[in-house]
Amino acid sequence: MLVVGVCSLKGGVGKTSVTLGLASAALERGLRTLVVDLDPQGDSTMALGTVAGQGDVSTVLDAPSPQAVTAATAPSSWAEDGLDVLVGSERSVLHDRIDDSDVHRLRDALSWVSGYDLVLIDCPPSLGGLTRTGLAACDRAVVVTEPGLFAVMAVGRAMRTIDELRRGPAPSLQPLGIVVNRVRARSVEQAYRLQELQTLYGPLVLTPSVPERAALQQAQGAAQPVHVWPGAAAAELADVFDQLLDRALRAPRR
Ligand SMILES: Nc1ncnc2c1ncn2[C@@H]1O[C@H](COP(=O)(O)OP(=O)(O)OP(=O)(O)O)[C@@H](O)[C@H]1O
Ligand SMILES: [Mg+2]
Repeated sequence: MLVVGVCSLKGGVGKTSVTLGLASAALERGLRTLVVDLDPQGDSTMALGTVAGQGDVSTVLDAPSPQAVTAATAPSSWAEDGLDVLVGSERSVLHDRIDDSDVHRLRDALSWVSGYDLVLIDCPPSLGGLTRTGLAACDRAVVVTEPGLFAVMAVGRAMRTIDELRRGPAPSLQPLGIVVNRVRARSVEQAYRLQELQTLYGPLVLTPSVPERAALQQAQGAAQPVHVWPGAAAAELADVFDQLLDRALRAPRR
């Protein structure tokens, strides 16, 4: 089981979109996948068409146990089988603590999870307690950014957090790399920021980047995987997420 966290300090850069794109690629490939919705906004739970059951991620973080994990896990409407969600909850914000008191709770919870090839953790837009708890459960972390000034500056903070966690409570955590999202072909400013990222982070800047395409929003709005969404733009996005998933799967597993 490979556990991949998707994070960024900055909001709205595409964490949920990258999580959903990777889940879509994994489903297409026949990988059994669990998406953990750690964001109190619950966006990935909604886009995956998941109806909450008896529990959610906050009840798991309140008191991790095999029973709590089972009660909080529900199927995605994307598929009959093979894609589940550890359901998001507004209450998870109560676990956004600064003192790391919860930092191992999700890792403990995932130790009782079996039967999945891949776990994807969609983190909230911060590097606070919830994201630290998410990353401490991961083998690999993906940092998402847009190619804009403020987002690029936030990448450095996220990379430093990953490094600090690796030297502290999450020794098995490694950065998988930086996904650059919402790239527009003919933007001079974006090209400059992409160049800047490549200079700063070299091979950690993952290829391909994710283009800005309305099809991604359309598929999300319809609670459908991008791999089944019609049209050339959706096919292009599907190919991008296939390649990013390939890259993630080359990381060593537990
Ligand atoms: N490549 C893209 N092309 C077009 N629209 C995109 C793309 N990536 C993201 N979006 C849209 O931008 C908005 C924000 O994306 P998303 O919710 O994935 O970001 P996020 O980082 O998860 O946000 P938050 O920080 O609130 O959790 C959404 O409406 C999404 O559909
Ligand atoms: Mg999100």
